[in-house]
Amino acid sequence: MKDDSLQSLALAHVAKLHAYTPGLQPTDQGWTKLNTNECPYPPSPKVAAALLDEIGSKGESLRRYPNPQSTPLRETIAAHHGLRAEQVCVGNGSDDILNLLIRSFCTQAEATGFTLPSYSLYPVLVGIQNGASTVLELDRSMRLPVKKIAESNARIFFLTSPNAPTGVGFSNDEIEEVLQSYAGVLVVDEAYAAFAKENAVKLLARYLRLVVVRTLSKAYALAGIRVGYALAHPEMIGLLDRVRDSYNVSRLSQVAAQAAFDDPHYYMGIINKVRHTRDHYVSEWENWGWFTYRSQANFIFTEPRNAAGEASAEMAKALYEYLLNHKILVRYFPSHALTASFLRISVGTEEEMLLLQETLEAWLKHA
Ligand SMILES: Cc1ncc(COP(=O)(O)O)c(C=O)c1O
Repeated sequence: MKDDSLQSLALAHVAKLHAYTPGLQPTDQGWTKLNTNECPYPPSPKVAAALLDEIGSKGESLRRYPNPQSTPLRETIAAHHGLRAEQVCVGNGSDDILNLLIRSFCTQAEATGFTLPSYSLYPVLVGIQNGASTVLELDRSMRLPVKKIAESNARIFFLTSPNAPTGVGFSNDEIEEVLQSYAGVLVVDEAYAAFAKENAVKLLARYLRLVVVRTLSKAYALAGIRVGYALAHPEMIGLLDRVRDSYNVSRLSQVAAQAAFDDPHYYMGIINKVRHTRDHYVSEWENWGWFTYRSQANFIFTEPRNAAGEASAEMAKALYEYLLNHKILVRYFPSHALTASFLRISVGTEEEMLLLQETLEAWLKHA
C-alpha cells in the first residue's frame, strides 16, 4: 500500500486541513504559564468535594451514562442567567457548542463570518465542514465593523466579545446595531464575559437570531473539566440538540459545573482579583510606553518596546523567546500584521505577575 493511500481515501477537504494549534501545555515543572488564559486560581473547594462524592470509594456511579441533556445543569444555568431551561444547551467545553453551531449553519453556498483577529478555532471548524468563510479584518482601533457585518451576507457570524487576543469588549449598543442590520445568526462568544463590563444576555429576550456562548474554562477555573453552554431562543436550542452527541457532557463534568454555580461568592472574589491585577499591569505597561489595549478579559494584549522605544514583530518574537528561556510562557501571533508586534499575556497570580514584571525589566536592560 502506498504511503499516501489514506490521504486519497479521505475527503479532499479533510486531507488538506490544518488542525487548530492549542497553546503549549508543558508537562515538566517550573513553568509560569501565561499562555492559554486559564484561571490562575483553583476552582471553588465545593467542586473537588462534589467530584469525590460522585465518584465515591468505588466509582460506582461511573457505570451509568450521564444525563443525556444535562437537565439539572441546564436548570441551574438558566436560573443563574434569569432564563428558562429550554434556552440552554450544555456542551463539552464551549468549543463543542461552536462546533454544533457550525454543523447547523455552515455551508459552502453562504459564508460563515468572523473578524480577524478573533478566536482562531472558527476557521478550523469551517474548514472541517468544508464551508465558505468571510473574514472581516479589523483595523488597529479593533472597533466593530457593524456595517461590514451587515453587508457580509453571512448565514452565521461569530463575534468574540471581549475579543481574543485583544481583550477589547464590544458594547451591547454595537451588538444591537449588528442585530438590527444583519439578517443571519449572530453568535456572541462570551468566553471572557465574567471579566467584562457588559454582556449580551439581556438581548436574548428580543432577538431570535442571537446565540450567546459561555464557558466554565476561564472564570470558573474548570478548563480541564470541559463545560461550556449556549444561551438562545428555545427553537435555536432545539436545532443544536438535534446535532449534539447524545452524551456530550460527562457525569463528572456535570457534577463539577453544578458545584461551581453553587459558589458565586468564591468566584466573585477571584474574578475581582484577576480584574484588579489586569488593570494594574495595563497601566504599568502603558507607563512604559507600550501600546496596550484596555482589556475586559483575563489577558492583556501589549506591544512591547525596547529601551529605545522600538516595537516590531521581531521585537515581540525576541521577547517571547526571552520569556520562554526564563520558563515563562506567553502567546504571540506572528501570522498577521495586526497582531505580530504584540504579545498576549494571561493574567496570573500576583506572584506570577511579579516574576513576569522582573523578567521584563531585566529584558529591557538588554533589549
Ligand atoms: C473566545 C474563545 N471561545 C471559546 C474558547 C474555548 O473554550 P472551552 O474551553 O470552553 O472550549 C476559548 C478558549 O480559549 C476562547 O478563547
